[in-house]
Amino acid sequence: MLITFEGIDGCGKSSQAKLTADRLREQGFECLLVREPGGTELSEHIRTLLLDAKHHAPLAAEAELLLFAASRAQLVRETIEPALARNAIVICDRFTDSTIAYQGYGRGLPLAYIRSINDLATGGLVPDLTFLIDVPLELAIRRRKGMGDDRMESEGKLFFSHVVQGYMALGQKHPDRIHVIDGTDSMEDIHHTITRLVEYELGNDLRHAHRMLDQPRRAGSVSGLPATGDYHYDFESIAESLTT
Ligand code: TYD
Repeated sequence: MLITFEGIDGCGKSSQAKLTADRLREQGFECLLVREPGGTELSEHIRTLLLDAKHHAPLAAEAELLLFAASRAQLVRETIEPALARNAIVICDRFTDSTIAYQGYGRGLPLAYIRSINDLATGGLVPDLTFLIDVPLELAIRRRKGMGDDRMESEGKLFFSHVVQGYMALGQKHPDRIHVIDGTDSMEDIHHTITRLVEYELGNDLRHAHRMLDQPRRAGSVSGLPATGDYHYDFESIAESLTT
């Protein structure tokens, strides 16, 4: 299962991604937490190129888009795909929605190109669940004050208001996948909401897998599905938390 966290800089998503990963690990799941751009040796080098403000001449928007995509392609092939293949849960701090919001709505690059490039970079991989942490722009800017802005964060308010518009459009377009979470709530409340949604999704995933395994085998019908014993999910604790 792939879970992603999205939102503007300073929304609090990285802390929530970590809390979610910690909780899943406590429950006995194999859970991998990665960030974008980054997450592999090569991708971390690309991250430095992308975010270091004093690195080079102004980066062309197209070059920026392709560097984010290159970082993602490497992360997917080297880390995410192998982890998903062994049924680990992967939590990714930013993924393809960031590119739509920042390079599409923020920079104004054509969305059709961005979708194709995202598809190429991910091999068509789409998150099962996305948490979009929504905070007012002013609050995010206040939270970031004094933290030292990277190249993207140095963009002006207008750029970020377009990014926010992009995220809201994505939330409306994919209501089944993207859960918009009120980022002005307390950290505990946000964590609680996210935990329940993750556990609900894990329950669905398992029920679906068990239904498939109960069906008579038709050629190709369960291809790629792991044997029941291969699941790392702690079904009992999920069932327990769903009833409390
Ligand atoms: P991140 O490390 O998440 O920054 P923060 O912790 O401050 O939220 O992300 C780095 C920056 O890169 C962030 O400003 C968003 C931007 N970004 C894009 O513009 N496009 C992308 O595809 C991704 C993944 C990130």
